[in-house]
Amino acid sequence: MDAKVTAVKFEQDADGIVTLTLDMPGRSMNVLNDELSAPLAAAIAQIESDAAIKGVIITSGKKEFLAGADIEKVFAITDPKDAFKLAEDYKGFLRRLEKCGRPVVAALNGTALGGGLELVLACHYRIAINDPKAKFGLPEVKLGLLPGGGGTQRLPRLIGIQASLPLMLEGKELRAEQAKQQGIIHELVKDREEMLAKAKAWCLANPKPVQPWDDKKFKWPGGDSKNPANVQLWAIAPSMADAKTYGNYPAATNIMSCVYEGGIVDFDSGCRIESRFFAELVTSQVSKNMIGTLWFQLNAINKGKSRPAKEEVGFEKSKVKKLGMLGAGMMGAGIAYVSVKAGIDVVLLDSTVEAAERGKAYSATLLDKAIKQGRETPMGKAALLDKIKTTADYADLKDCDLIIEAVFEDRAIKADVTKKTEAVIANTATFASNTSTLPITGLAEASLRPDQFIGLHFFSPVDKMPLVEIILGAKTSKATLAKGFDYVQQIKKTPIVVNDSRGFYTSRAFATYIMEGKALLLEGQRPRSIEMAGLQAGMPVGPLALHDEVSMGLSMHVMEQTKKDFAAEGKTYVGHPGEAAVIKMVKELDRPGKKAGKGFYEYPPSSINGGQKFLWPELAKHFPLAKEQLSQQEMIERMMFAQANEAARCYEENVVMTVADTNIGSIFGWGFAPHQGGALQYINAYGLTRFVKRADELSARYGARFKPAAILIDMAKNGKTFEA
Ligand code: NAI
Repeated sequence: MDAKVTAVKFEQDADGIVTLTLDMPGRSMNVLNDELSAPLAAAIAQIESDAAIKGVIITSGKKEFLAGADIEKVFAITDPKDAFKLAEDYKGFLRRLEKCGRPVVAALNGTALGGGLELVLACHYRIAINDPKAKFGLPEVKLGLLPGGGGTQRLPRLIGIQASLPLMLEGKELRAEQAKQQGIIHELVKDREEMLAKAKAWCLANPKPVQPWDDKKFKWPGGDSKNPANVQLWAIAPSMADAKTYGNYPAATNIMSCVYEGGIVDFDSGCRIESRFFAELVTSQVSKNMIGTLWFQLNAINKGKSRPAKEEVGFEKSKVKKLGMLGAGMMGAGIAYVSVKAGIDVVLLDSTVEAAERGKAYSATLLDKAIKQGRETPMGKAALLDKIKTTADYADLKDCDLIIEAVFEDRAIKADVTKKTEAVIANTATFASNTSTLPITGLAEASLRPDQFIGLHFFSPVDKMPLVEIILGAKTSKATLAKGFDYVQQIKKTPIVVNDSRGFYTSRAFATYIMEGKALLLEGQRPRSIEMAGLQAGMPVGPLALHDEVSMGLSMHVMEQTKKDFAAEGKTYVGHPGEAAVIKMVKELDRPGKKAGKGFYEYPPSSINGGQKFLWPELAKHFPLAKEQLSQQEMIERMMFAQANEAARCYEENVVMTVADTNIGSIFGWGFAPHQGGALQYINAYGLTRFVKRADELSARYGARFKPAAILIDMAKNGKTFEA
């Protein structure tokens, strides 16, 4: 079969209306690559040369319209000239389409994103089926890129500079109704038949349409870049973006430059400008980091790279029907919520029915919020709440196929609930613990079926955090892993798989970030500068504020427990130098964190300055400032090296087993700077040899914790990098 012939179906009816159906053979979705663009270009050439053709309808033979550009191709580009040519070629052919002298209608049967939406914007009229699942947007920024097919020029000329900027800067994906409200789609219809009929009628009624930007009388909606309203916007938008991104995301800057500069020149010049800014991004380290991890590695995880194959476990994809949730506290309530949202029935058990009800009320609160935002209906809320049965009676767990315990972090209590549960559930059910610190192998000792016992470590708040860390106990079977993996995907979260070890992977590597903040504080670095260094590094929150959030009281508890465990195992405990600050804050100053209303920060009531937290003014008294203040860059590198080196150690020790899980786990689990592409990719981009050299320097200056992991020294010697 010749793909070039079949990727675009060309059908002409008796009235001279051509329907181009995008339908790439052998793929579930259409993507923009040569296989699609070559026959599309050929079709356009045919339309241009055939006067009998009176109009064109572009639609898709797949469920979605067009998912976007072929990322693999973009990722492979290393020469900016090739990137420029790619953008120019695509733009050139979209330009011919919109100037072909015949009406062109986009008939959108589903999602159109990125390059897909850019094709749509080059059509004269846009009709979409009102399918709540369809999405429309220009999400390139999320991979460190910008829309290079004229998107930064057409969208602002269509809906205005002010409305288009947030769509491109945040990569927002709109539902069909929202896209219509914003003026991106002209008309919504109920099905394909109506869509095609209306598309044809529009072609016949509008034989010579001209794009707004090609109309001599064109006026920018809301004015061009020189318009006073927009001048104001341009005065503050870049600094607002920088305040959020600390200059770590060149895509944001380049998108604004395209729109601003495009807003003072004609359309075609704007397109050239866009191609140049696009070329710069395509070859930037940031886009390579983001695409490598957030596209390829994430897709590999989602496709089940770490899930045992069907041949190994005997089943394809398992589905949980009924979840037994033990403990209706902060975590249990959240896990119950995301599970019912995925269509799973939940039995929510706590020591009393009242406590279980409080956990259920959390779902009601989240659903009320969703109703307010138009994402849920009162009827939907009632139906979901109906699926949560609250109880204090273990007998109600009888039919559950998965149990997750999130009771207090106490071995004896966890053992007790495990035994009580296993007395009533089927011997085929899986038992999972959401422990954050206790080794799974030890917890599984309380179980009759340790092979069916696993760790499912969620992150707080459960409804927002995308990751679940799956922990294998020594006896956990492959089938249990597969079931755990399938459940995590069923609730639409991303699973990474790790081996049982202290702190597992995420808590262990994450701790190095907050502890480095404390080490800096004890060395007399200015608290504000420490916090800023964290943010400038690309972390979502500074290390001191973050420790307030997760609670130093909890860290204290974990530290003491670890010391006891080490003593029991006859091992020597070597603490982190930052620990002294935790002990001081908790024991001496009674400031354990945000929950207590006092930590490194003060948390005033909302009546004072809108409840904005601020650094505790007395910190300087208890952590005197040193004469010599380190540069921001030095502090940034200390924080990043601490995390990356620890992640490398976890990989070396086989705690985390794949590069993809290590990188994605770092970004999704504890917010490791996404523009760096994750903890191991940070080392790749820094260069293995350079990283090892710099780690040695840091280690000589600040302590043995910076000594490069053995695997890094080895890789540097052999010229290797972390490959997924
Ligand atoms: P929580 O204190 O908010 O909730 C614990 C719940 O368990 C309470 O509602 C309590 O009444 C119930 N409970 C205690 N003993 C029970 C028993 N014998 N039978 C039935 N119910 C019982 O605690 P949270 O924060 O929800 O943590 C729960 C578990 O999740 C812990 O193991 C914790 O380490 C882990 N975890 C916590 C995270 C967090 O950010 N808070 C993150 C990841 C894991």
